[in-house]
Amino acid sequence: MNFNINMPVKVLFGSGRVVEFGKEVTGLGRKVFLVTMREILELGLLDKAIASLKAAGFEYEIFSDVLPDPKSGDIDCAVERLRSSGCDVIAGIGGGSAIDFAKALAICYAHPLDVWSYVNLSNRPPAPIDASKVLPIIALPTTSGTGSEVTPYSVVTNTETVQKGTIKETSIFPKVAIIDPELTLTLPPELTAIIGVDALAHAVESYFNVPNRTPYSDIVVEQSVGCIAKYLKRAFDDGGDLEARVGMAWGSALAGVAISQAGTTVVHALAQPLGARMGLSHGVSVSIFFLEVLRRTLPAESARFARFARMLGVDDAEASELTLAGKGIDALSELLAEVKMPPKLSDYDAKPELIDELACDVATYMSRPLKQHPKVFTEDELREIVKACF
Ligand SMILES: [Fe+2]
Repeated sequence: MNFNINMPVKVLFGSGRVVEFGKEVTGLGRKVFLVTMREILELGLLDKAIASLKAAGFEYEIFSDVLPDPKSGDIDCAVERLRSSGCDVIAGIGGGSAIDFAKALAICYAHPLDVWSYVNLSNRPPAPIDASKVLPIIALPTTSGTGSEVTPYSVVTNTETVQKGTIKETSIFPKVAIIDPELTLTLPPELTAIIGVDALAHAVESYFNVPNRTPYSDIVVEQSVGCIAKYLKRAFDDGGDLEARVGMAWGSALAGVAISQAGTTVVHALAQPLGARMGLSHGVSVSIFFLEVLRRTLPAESARFARFARMLGVDDAEASELTLAGKGIDALSELLAEVKMPPKLSDYDAKPELIDELACDVATYMSRPLKQHPKVFTEDELREIVKACF
């Protein structure tokens, strides 16, 4: 049993902990580039963070132009703003888009190529990154879903090539993640559900990632799935339920830890190209494929599906492994239905040609995660999955 654990992020977890932001900058730099979205700024979610920075005597500059699902062109344009700001620390405050944008900037700051060159595609190696030149990152999530606060990943969309890929680089693990569930209290129900399903997919895909899962990632997944199953519906029904928000923040952070160790497989391999081709948000894209992929994976790994059923609270000592596995899928389906998931491709006016396009995308630039799944789907089987999600 040989495996590695690499989790270099200092995590501050708990309600009200955003006020410790200023203190955490100490030792990392002098001036902070605050990367966020306009809506986050307008909701006042930066107020306490900025007050703590001022109290600790640090300078800062706010960059609030991040849009959902960062585009490579927008990141390349922002690099000059960062370079001329004199900042030497980057903070991502917001959902995964803001944190991923911050991570990409941290690399591009002192590297010569455009950001897309550093994206790791299955059919093209990324340009080399000098870890010593990457700026330190602090992550403050305001959603519970992407887990980006504890991962070495940054997802980037290229609108020219119509692709969506991931930078995978150890040096962009945030130095510090401040996970304050109070920052998630204003998330609307639909978004709570969509990104909650993304978190669940991170946990489950890590659990089924054959070459990369470890005893450590399995334990993390078990806790994560239990937490999300318990609190997703509550957070969806009542956004102001702080206990549920704490549960979702913890469940999604654990799912982030799981992908940082094991990684996603087919659901995300389909979701990323879909996001690139149709401009759908990451969470929506993942939610569309999640259940369908799992249904078709069950025969390949029923023992793990039976354990997954128990994580969801299915308890039937009399049932055979296969029956229990099936009940796990049923329980997952019920959980998703309770939060009005999953959406269908037809809800977004997807065209039939999408079936061939996605199958081709996955088979080419997403072929690595495809092969890490317990059931290695052929291009024809991928077409069947996409078709079933219409
Ligand atoms: Fe995701």
